[in-house]
Amino acid sequence: MATTAKQPGDRELEQYPRKRQPLIDFGPLGRWFEDRALAIHYPLREFLMHPVDKFSNIFDLMGELTAFLFINQLITGIILAVFYRPTISGAFVSLQDITYVTPAGVWIRGLHVYGASAMVIAIFLHMCRVFWYGAYKKPRELTWMLGVVLLIATLGLSFTGYLLPWNQEAYWATMVGTFMPFYTLFPVPFIGRWVVILLRAGNDLTGATLTRFYTLHMLILPGLLITALTLHLALVVRQGVFFLTEEHTQ
Ligand code: HEM
Repeated sequence: MATTAKQPGDRELEQYPRKRQPLIDFGPLGRWFEDRALAIHYPLREFLMHPVDKFSNIFDLMGELTAFLFINQLITGIILAVFYRPTISGAFVSLQDITYVTPAGVWIRGLHVYGASAMVIAIFLHMCRVFWYGAYKKPRELTWMLGVVLLIATLGLSFTGYLLPWNQEAYWATMVGTFMPFYTLFPVPFIGRWVVILLRAGNDLTGATLTRFYTLHMLILPGLLITALTLHLALVVRQGVFFLTEEHTQ
């Protein structure tokens, strides 16, 4: 009887410590893809299927809630970007159109605006839980440091997003906010003035500031957040979630 000859790549597949049942069985096409994307599939499966400890309370899930809210921000943000015009003459008008004319626009905008506030609350609760449990201690220091990047990116997204409607409230709030590095009780030493100019793309708030904030909001900060979050979650999967019962109650 003829045996099927081994193909290049089969040996790697045999050596891979995989669990054969996929999350969702997409049939032969799904298995073809799975065999070629094991590096993604295996950690993803571990992450999605990791058991939650029976003693866990709601605060253990604040990281997951933050991730969920971030996905909401991504989806609604992409939809808003299709309709938003990042110019001083177009920004306010395009958002009025989104709210009053575009079908479901008011819902998408609402989800994005309230989702941003909810994400800030969730990230703080997540951070408090990690701090309260001491879950940042060895070997999870790097997870915490990446968390600091995530916090800065999240707050940066809220700050830059606030200017985008380009209405009176947005304009003057950003005028005050961008001046803070120079003129507060605790200014940034020596370079405060330059930080203000860097943030505003000049001395005043102009169309150049709007372009700068839009780029930060659309491109730079989400890119930073997605990169840091991938590493953050990779460490969580690798090290396992810290549970109070696991290390503190003996
Ligand atoms: C976009 C923001 C963030 C997301 C989506 C996120 C997501 C997660 C998730 C899903 C976990 C798994 C366990 C859990 O849910 O508690 C986790 C763990 C952890 N996070 Fe975050 N996180 C974020 C921000 C932060 C911040 C701001 C800090 C601290 C400065 C932080 C520090 C940690 C640490 C130390 C762990 C490991 C503790 C454990 O294993 O329970 N994270 N994060």
